[in-house]
Amino acid sequence: MTVDIAIWAMVLAIIVSIFASTMFTGASPVPTSASVRDTMLAMLPQRIDGPIYELGSGWGGLARVLAGRYPDSPVRGFEISLLPWAVSAVRLKLGGPDNLCFRYQDFNKADLSGAALVVCYLPGPPMEKLRPKLEAELRPGTLVLSNTFALRGWQAIDTRTAPDMYRSQVYLYRVE
Ligand SMILES: C[S@@+](CC[C@H](N)C(=O)[O-])C[C@H]1O[C@@H](n2cnc3c(N)ncnc32)[C@H](O)[C@@H]1O
Repeated sequence: MTVDIAIWAMVLAIIVSIFASTMFTGASPVPTSASVRDTMLAMLPQRIDGPIYELGSGWGGLARVLAGRYPDSPVRGFEISLLPWAVSAVRLKLGGPDNLCFRYQDFNKADLSGAALVVCYLPGPPMEKLRPKLEAELRPGTLVLSNTFALRGWQAIDTRTAPDMYRSQVYLYRVE
């Protein structure tokens, strides 16, 4: 009985935690699907010379794939939802890779100026909030890759449609 209550309390705490951070950020921790991820990876160059930042890294799956694809680049995931961040951090502790890290941090408060590639999957309001920060901080040449949501007023250098059931759009930008 006590175990049952503890389990239910834990499940409730998890649900409340995810709900609260979704309300706070305007983005739930829905992961990029495998087919959209493959489309995203196909749009990127062979080499990225510098750090890769994933803004809102969720459960860490996409950051992990990016770290594998670019072993010479440090990959940093920023995530503010406690449970997805904790799952990413534990998986990382258990098996690396060494070029990956996850920060429990609001990316709106982070310095993004060092990035060579920024990756995100953020719906309209958080994306719109992020836009002026990207414009102010990213250096010319920095790539920005976005799943589904376009950056208003930016001209994509490549746009592709993923073969998933939603025909998700993926946008690649280069900062001028
Ligand atoms: C739709 S999910 C995408 C997860 C992952 N990027 C992927 O593509 O699989 C968006 C994530 O961004 C996180 N997020 C939204 N705003 C954030 C912020 N200001 N700082 C850190 N994380 C944020 C949310 O908690 C959520 O986990």
